[in-house]
Amino acid sequence: MEIISITMKNKHLAKPAQALFSARKNPKTFNAQFFENPNNHMFIALVEKDVAGMIYGYTLEHYDRKEKELFLYSIDVAEKYRRQGIGKALIKAFLQPLESGSCDEAFVLTHASNEAALQLYQKTGAKIIKSDEGNDVMLAWTNLHK
Ligand SMILES: CC(C)(COP(=O)(O)OP(=O)(O)OC[C@H]1O[C@@H](n2cnc3c(N)ncnc32)[C@H](O)[C@@H]1OP(=O)(O)O)[C@@H](O)C(=O)NCCC(=O)NCCS
Repeated sequence: MEIISITMKNKHLAKPAQALFSARKNPKTFNAQFFENPNNHMFIALVEKDVAGMIYGYTLEHYDRKEKELFLYSIDVAEKYRRQGIGKALIKAFLQPLESGSCDEAFVLTHASNEAALQLYQKTGAKIIKSDEGNDVMLAWTNLHK
């Protein structure tokens, strides 16, 4: 299994991932400009030549502090590749800016009913920081260098 960072140079690799994982109504719309922005991040897991998973999200900057945050917007692993450590490997790649210290926190939103996601995030070090009366849960990883 290989984790690949998607950039302008290899953006064609995002197309099969989009076909598999996009929740959009018209998954044929491919916004190549996404990959021009250095604050946008996508990684793909390849098993041989098969796209097995994808993660994407953003670096968020603030007007009132220097520290940047990561927002994990979406992670998916194809059913036949689940429970093989691919989700963990994608999260590790995505969280690299926390390791390097260029971001001080990463966060994700999920549903209380999504046991797989909750377990995956907590197993990779996230803590639940907000869980409301409904089904939404926010989890965050924090920078060990603080
Ligand atoms: C959540 C998801 C990305 C996990 O991917 P994965 O590759 O199967 O995850 P991993 O194999 O790396 O699992 C890491 C840990 O997460 C937990 N986990 C993963 N799937 C689980 C499940 N179905 N039930 C309970 N725990 C689970 C386990 O603790 C696991 O460690 P273990 O296998 O050593 O016990 C995958 O289930 C998925 O794509 N789900 C549908 C999309 C989705 O819900 N995305 C999250 C939206 S917020």
